[in-house]
Amino acid sequence: MQRVLITGASRGIGRAIAEILATPQTLLLLHGRDQQALEETAAACKQAGAKAELLICDLSKPALVERMIDQISTSPLDVFVNNAGVGMVNPLEQMTREEWDLTVAVNITAPFLLYRGLVPTMPSGSSVVNILSGAAKSGIPGWSSYCMSKFAMDGFAKAVREELRAKGVRVINIYPNATDTDIWEQVPGDWPREKMMRPESVATAVKAALDQPPNIVVEDISLGIIQGRL
Ligand SMILES: NC(=O)c1ccc[n+]([C@@H]2O[C@H](COP(=O)([O-])OP(=O)(O)OC[C@H]3O[C@@H](n4cnc5c(N)ncnc54)[C@H](OP(=O)(O)O)[C@@H]3O)[C@@H](O)[C@H]2O)c1
Repeated sequence: MQRVLITGASRGIGRAIAEILATPQTLLLLHGRDQQALEETAAACKQAGAKAELLICDLSKPALVERMIDQISTSPLDVFVNNAGVGMVNPLEQMTREEWDLTVAVNITAPFLLYRGLVPTMPSGSSVVNILSGAAKSGIPGWSSYCMSKFAMDGFAKAVREELRAKGVRVINIYPNATDTDIWEQVPGDWPREKMMRPESVATAVKAALDQPPNIVVEDISLGIIQGRL
C-alpha cells in the first residue's frame, strides 16, 4: 500500500491530484481545513478503490502543523505532495503585514516543518512533489508576496533535492500557470477563468512524473496554456 500525503486536498489542484493518484494500492492522507470538502475528495478517491484518511489542520499555526506531523509520522510516506497555498494579491503600497505573514506561514514555514518532520524517513524510490507556480520563475506585478514565497520554495526544494539524491528520494517541482480554481476568487480583476488550465491538467503532469522508474527524477515541469500568460 502506497502512503500518499496531499496538502490542500479539499479543492482545486490538490483534489485533482488526490483523484488521479487514487488506486486500490493507495492510502491517501488528505489534508485541508474544510472537513466537508475533504470528505467529498475522500468519497471520490474511495470510488477508485483507494483508502483515505482526513487530516484537518490550519497550516498558518506551526503548533498544529507539528501535531499533524506526529499523526502522520507513525510510518513513512511514499509520496508527499506539497500543494496547499495562499495567494494574496495587492500592490506593494497596499500590502498588509498580515497578508505577508500569512503567505510566509502557509507557503513557506508549514512546508519547511512538514519536510523536516516527514521527508528524512521517506524510503528510496519515494517522491516529494511541490506545486509551485509560474510565479516561482518570473515576477508578476501585484503578486510580490506570492512570488516571494514560490521563489523561496523553489530554492528550498532544489537544495533538498540535491541532499536527497544519494538516498534515492526524488524531488519534483511543478510550475503551473493560471489554473481555474477557487484561488482566483480573491484575486482583484476580471480574469478569463474559462481560458485557464483545468486542475486535472496539473494532476496529469504530477502522475506522469511519479510514473517514471524510481531511478529517474523529472525535476521540473512548467505548464501553461498555448496562448501564453493570461
Ligand atoms: N490556481 C492557479 O492558478 C495556480 C497556479 C499555480 C500554482 N498554484 C498553486 O497550486 C496550489 C493549490 O492551489 P489551488 O489553485 O488549487 O487553490 P485553492 O482551490 O484555493 O486550494 C487551496 C488549498 O490550500 C488549502 N489551504 C489554504 N490555506 C490553508 C491553511 N491556512 N491551512 C490549511 N490549508 C490551507 C485549502 O484548504 P481548505 O479549503 O480546506 O482551507 C485548499 O485545499 C497552491 O500552492 C497554489 O499556489 C495555483
